Amino acid sequence: MNKLQNLLDNNRRWASEIKERQPKFFEILSKQQSPEYLWIGCSDSRVPANEIVNLLPGELFVHRNVANVVVHTDLNCLSVIQYAVDVLHVKHIIVCGHYGCGGVRAALEKNRFGLIDNWLRHIQDVQQQYSSIVESAGTIEKQVDRLCELNVIEQVRNVCETTIIQDAWARGASLNVHGWIYGLSDGLIRDLNITMNGGEEINSIYSLAIQNVRERT
Ligand code: CO
Repeated sequence: MNKLQNLLDNNRRWASEIKERQPKFFEILSKQQSPEYLWIGCSDSRVPANEIVNLLPGELFVHRNVANVVVHTDLNCLSVIQYAVDVLHVKHIIVCGHYGCGGVRAALEKNRFGLIDNWLRHIQDVQQQYSSIVESAGTIEKQVDRLCELNVIEQVRNVCETTIIQDAWARGASLNVHGWIYGLSDGLIRDLNITMNGGEEINSIYSLAIQNVRERT
């Protein structure tokens, strides 16, 4: 029976390396977590949240799903956001997409993979709304990348429109929502300039961010 011994061995080495550097690391961490950030990203194995922003266990609260979609009725995602905001009091929520996202590409090309097609319908809605921007991008790869950016911007707005974030802002919580996109080919994150903190109109920041994408095509 293959017990994935290689992964278990990796884990032993990883834990002992951390303990060598900081003997009480796990002991302290086991008592509490107080991350400043909630990360909402894609499940893609090439976009490991903690690693690409170089944060340690305990520093990043994470929710990942296919194509980093935030749906108003997704109890899973909403529960993560609510716990992060109301209990952990995170200061920042980061929606981070990535270029070349397979989920976004499948939505754009209307590929059929099964149940997941229904999930990706949300991205097809974004594509339909901004088809002029997407179609003028050129090659299919460029179209996918534009739709990846638009999808992040859309999901940032969805986060901001939840009752959780609206209520947090109404009681004066310091909470920023950011939209980022990660490049698989260079390992770099780019800010899509759609940071919202409750102080300004959501729709005006949203429109500016969409305009930025339009101007790049
Ligand atoms: Co992806």
